[in-house]
Amino acid sequence: MTGNRGNSTGKNLGVLISGRGSNLQSILDAVAAGRLAATVAVVISNRADAAGLARAADAGVETLVLDHRGQTREQYDAQLIDALRARAVDVVCLAGFMRVLSAGFIEAFRDRILNIHPSLLPAFPGVDAQRQAWEHGVKLAGATVHLVDESLDGGPIVRQEAIEVRAEDTAESLAARILEIEHRLYPAAIGDVVRGGWRLEG
Ligand code: GRF
Repeated sequence: MTGNRGNSTGKNLGVLISGRGSNLQSILDAVAAGRLAATVAVVISNRADAAGLARAADAGVETLVLDHRGQTREQYDAQLIDALRARAVDVVCLAGFMRVLSAGFIEAFRDRILNIHPSLLPAFPGVDAQRQAWEHGVKLAGATVHLVDESLDGGPIVRQEAIEVRAEDTAESLAARILEIEHRLYPAAIGDVVRGGWRLEG
């Protein structure tokens, strides 16, 4: 597949993954279809067995495995920063990247790091958010794209979309419907950020 070089904003994305990479796929597809004006410059995984690496390779995007084991968080994040800067990455997109970022990393890409989280933040931060929401018995669930700051899943919200929880939902069916939202929401939110014309208030 080709088409991951079309880019009218001139912005380079670096996507960080640890696993399946379905959100990465939605970004690659949006770029290829011309719905997201940016280039995916590199996909970095901390795990060599992340299925998302093959998705990037299929799209003709450079992949890099940086194993975090045996390093401090600061050492690892310094490697990440170097790799992203070497590819002139403007915006870092976390897409199922299962690591907490150091203060140094957040500072290096201040207000240029995005994350997608499968809940209506600030409700249900942390792992297994869809199950947390389902077990709590919420009537509305959803997904959030936010800028990453030093708080856990707590930075400024870029986009959010809600769905109703159905009586017959299981934690799994709810997670599957939230994932459908995620795949629309993330490319759209990345588009908002790379187009610019926004500022943070408050
Ligand atoms: C998604 O549910 C995302 O919201 C969360 O991690 C999951 C990653 O899935 N941060 P995938 O690897 O993009 O398929």
